[in-house]
Amino acid sequence: MDRQPPAYRLVRRPAGAAEPPILDPAQAQVVGHSGGPLLVLAGPGTGKTTAIVETVVDRIAGRGLDPGRVLVLTFSRKAAQELRARITLRLDRTTAEPLALTFHSYAYALVRRESVLAGAEPPILLSGPEQLQEVRRMLRGEASDGARHWPQRLRPLLGTRGYAAELRDFLLRASERGLDGVGLARLGEQADRDDWVAAGRFLTRYAARFDLAPVPAYDYAEIIRIAGQVLARPEVRQRERLAYDVVMVDEYQDTDPAQEDLLHALAGDGRELIVVGDPDQSIYAFRGADADAIGRFPARFRAPDGRHAQVIALRTSRRSGAVMLTASRRVAARLPERAPGGRVHRRRAPAGSPDRPGSLVVDGRAGPLGGTPGSRAAAGAVRRGRSCRGRR
Ligand SMILES: Nc1ncnc2c1ncn2[C@@H]1O[C@H](COP(=O)(O)OP(=O)(O)OP(=O)(O)O)[C@@H](O)[C@H]1O
Ligand SMILES: [Mg+2]
Repeated sequence: MDRQPPAYRLVRRPAGAAEPPILDPAQAQVVGHSGGPLLVLAGPGTGKTTAIVETVVDRIAGRGLDPGRVLVLTFSRKAAQELRARITLRLDRTTAEPLALTFHSYAYALVRRESVLAGAEPPILLSGPEQLQEVRRMLRGEASDGARHWPQRLRPLLGTRGYAAELRDFLLRASERGLDGVGLARLGEQADRDDWVAAGRFLTRYAARFDLAPVPAYDYAEIIRIAGQVLARPEVRQRERLAYDVVMVDEYQDTDPAQEDLLHALAGDGRELIVVGDPDQSIYAFRGADADAIGRFPARFRAPDGRHAQVIALRTSRRSGAVMLTASRRVAARLPERAPGGRVHRRRAPAGSPDRPGSLVVDGRAGPLGGTPGSRAAAGAVRRGRSCRGRR
């Protein structure tokens, strides 16, 4: 007799809204902030992203703001995904517009919208590998034409993948710092660097490569620059500024100067803007990030009455206990002081009992912190993310 296997139906259990955290006073101050720019300075694990998420929730669920009028920007795609997930979980609903975007997706959406409004073909955004492919294609073409634009000593390199990758990175860094081909070539002349001059002229040819193409294609640095140009038009800037009641930025230490300019065009001049960051966590300098932007923020993004932006430090560490904090403070003490107000954000206290004993273990050797032997090991542990006993 045939026996039917039992039928199973897999049903995803609804995740349910996340419980609201009990905010510490500094986080509550961020959430309660209104009117003008605010810089939140804080070390790792102090609840910066939580403060942003709770601010979004407070504006939408508490103050009744339309979700489309809140914009959260961040540098990396991973951070934007995490923000979206955390906001959705706390709001317990999805929103028509994604509330959290990378600077690049915001810029691309803006440029796209403007092209469509102008009746032009929307541009294509080139990924990193596609851009490298484009640079290689052009360099190979120039090499086979005799490479007359290039210094003699660089000509044999033009066909290599390594040189194309280096040139692509160099041009990205230049664009992020607001240099176009002419500006880069001029800088090269001033610095007596014929390779920079050649790279600058190449950048001009690269930027013009789609002049005749029906559909322009931009890379990641270009799209930020083009969005900046679009936002420089008073009518577009006015419209974009009116579209958002509040703009927030997470991981501000990872932004580059072109993104800082874009943010200023969108949310400068005393508009409601909350940025959070930690200059000591800046790890993307090789991708153009400029941690000094945090130091510049209060003077560049001023309150409507012209005063410097308000600064709040979060100092309760949620992620590390006293031992880890002591170790990370020692490492941070060797880093440059870029934050306005100096080191206040480095003075963190653990949530819960601060006196719990602990030790760091590096390469199998344990050293009590508070005595000298641990400091070097502790620095290593923090840098390498090794095991850490006494951590909560
Ligand atoms: N007020 C709070 N009460 C309880 N837990 C909190 C509170 N604030 C933050 N946390 C928790 O602490 C952890 C770190 O928070 P969060 O990710 O917001 O910190 P962060 O400063 O953004 O960290 P990072 O430096 O990695 O970006 C998370 O698990 C978060 O849920
Ligand atoms: Mg965070």
